[in-house]
Amino acid sequence: MDKLVIRGGNPLLGTIRVSGAKNAALPAMAAALLTEEPVILENIPQVRDIITERNLLAAMGAEVELGYGRAQHRTTLCCRHLVNPEASYELVKTMRASTLVLGPLVARTGEARVSLPGGCAIGARPIDLHIKGLEKLGAEITQEHGYIKAQAKRLKGAHIVFEKITVTGTEDLLMAATLADGDTVMENCAREPEVTDLANLLVKMGARIDGIGTSTLKIHGVEKLHGAKHRIIPDRIEAGTFIIAGALTGGDLMIQGCDPSHLGALLSKLEENGVKLRVNSDTVRVMGDSQLKPSDITTEEYPGFPTDMQAQYMTLATQCEGTSVVVENIFENRFMHAQELVRMGANIKIEGRRAIVRGRTPLSGAAVQASDLRASASLVIAALVAEGETIIDRVYHIDRGYEHIEEKLRNVGAEIKRIGELFPRKASPVAVS
Ligand code: EPZ
Repeated sequence: MDKLVIRGGNPLLGTIRVSGAKNAALPAMAAALLTEEPVILENIPQVRDIITERNLLAAMGAEVELGYGRAQHRTTLCCRHLVNPEASYELVKTMRASTLVLGPLVARTGEARVSLPGGCAIGARPIDLHIKGLEKLGAEITQEHGYIKAQAKRLKGAHIVFEKITVTGTEDLLMAATLADGDTVMENCAREPEVTDLANLLVKMGARIDGIGTSTLKIHGVEKLHGAKHRIIPDRIEAGTFIIAGALTGGDLMIQGCDPSHLGALLSKLEENGVKLRVNSDTVRVMGDSQLKPSDITTEEYPGFPTDMQAQYMTLATQCEGTSVVVENIFENRFMHAQELVRMGANIKIEGRRAIVRGRTPLSGAAVQASDLRASASLVIAALVAEGETIIDRVYHIDRGYEHIEEKLRNVGAEIKRIGELFPRKASPVAVS
């Protein structure tokens, strides 16, 4: 099992190019199930979850070509011949987002058999809202042996009001509704940029969707969708992660190829913390030479402060002079990184959904364990500012959502290496200013 070894204290200087958004690429790949024609997706991140999704679709009979060499970040998917509309437990248990195939499969083939995802480190992660929405669209749902089975000759347009805002629930049902007979109105939808990016791809495929980017989506179902070519949006969470790393390491870091309009809540919060930022259309420059002030956050659905940045922000809060309160409203168990940060010297008290962070506390390197994707990112940031060496175990968590993280950080001066991998990767050509 790979580990990351990081020696803290180096200022990060130079440019990091942001990869495509994993959470936009996953639904976009699932959308290819809706047509028998090829779908070409560009700016796909080279991360573990993309491989898992490729394996999932291939197991159904889809032809999925993941680009290599120069076309490394492109995938061509052709789901002309679907022979096995099933997402097995083996694959779903490693990636909850596999449930995104449920809606497209039953819309395209009339049936789907998807393993229930089960919980994960950050929470129970039910899919009851996906199921209720599919039933509204006329699917017959049964549950047996840990699998959800959905059947429908043809889905019918319906009026769906989400009891809770759900990102993949919105995406799953949006895809299903594009091929339903009649009109569908979905209210209280998620408005994350990844949902909007999926809707834009579906429109390119011939879907008829109004209200894109708002919490009410109106879909006029069509008989068929056709192939399309689409470039995935940049990863706002990867960008935010590196911005916080730049803010804490006393350097001067240019985050390139991001979309700052997707980072409003984070950027305005960091300005409250006293972080020096220069924001342009597709770059954020962060200068880490300022004394940081504490500030509270409460995670909310987009455009509120993203839950996927909560762990990384907690690391920043440990370096602010004063007390910050972090409230996690989206998931019931997303503070696992706190105890690891405490082992590195942080002063954090957990009270239910609130974490009280008292800074500034010097951090010292330690052997720590990653528990989930974003918790691992918060530990990497902590290691970059800690005195001495940190060894982060279970790095496969971070590989799920961060492309070549050690190369990107090493190219801007971090002392970081991966141990345990059989064939060391050569550094990818990343622009350095
Ligand atoms: C998506 O997960 C993201 N994953 C998550 O990113 C992200 O943390 C989350 O949205 C919130 O922004 C992908 O897009 C692949 P939800 P999702 O459905 O869709 C409850 C990462 O780090 N809920 O918006 O699974 C749920 O328990 C990952 O990249 C139900 O109760 O999250 C949670 O409390 C982690 N019933 C809340 O809603 C349902 O049917 C929001 O979950 C569905 C969700």
